[in-house]
Amino acid sequence: MEEKVFSFGEVSKHNRNGDCWVIIHGKVYDVSRFLDEHPGGEEVLVNASGKDASVDFDDVSHTNYAQGLMKDFLIGKIDANTLPKMEKECTTHDASSSRGSTTELLLNAVPFFMLAFAFLLHYYNNSSSDNN
Ligand code: HEM
Repeated sequence: MEEKVFSFGEVSKHNRNGDCWVIIHGKVYDVSRFLDEHPGGEEVLVNASGKDASVDFDDVSHTNYAQGLMKDFLIGKIDANTLPKMEKECTTHDASSSRGSTTELLLNAVPFFMLAFAFLLHYYNNSSSDNN
């Protein structure tokens, strides 16, 4: 059977109790009838709808059992081009890592400066004892 392709706009309309679709790793799941049974509670699922829930889903480290269960709710896949920029997987991670990159660069430079300082000290000590 051919997989149905949904746009992000269409999926995000199903974002409430009783009519709830979630996007996990590019696939669309209709979890409306699973809300009551979800061991993590229905609220987390409703909150995870209308956006890409991949990171939230992975954060919980769902068991293989949960991942097997997902197949029952699979209704299609998401058209990646319709995902809002911030919703694309890993974008949030990229954004935060680029924000931290200046600090990261400075932190990486610390050992370099310490080495350079040690080398200069050593060189200075040697040359001053040569003079004596
Ligand atoms: C089709 C989608 C999903 C299925 C079939 C599913 C299924 C399950 C199952 C079976 C468990 C029990 C623990 C396990 O066996 O891993 C669980 C726990 C949980 N799930 Fe989901 N889940 C889904 C999506 C989500 C999403 C999108 C979130 C978003 C945050 C979420 C959050 C949680 C939380 C917080 C727990 C409780 C973990 C704990 O108590 O330690 N789940 N889920």
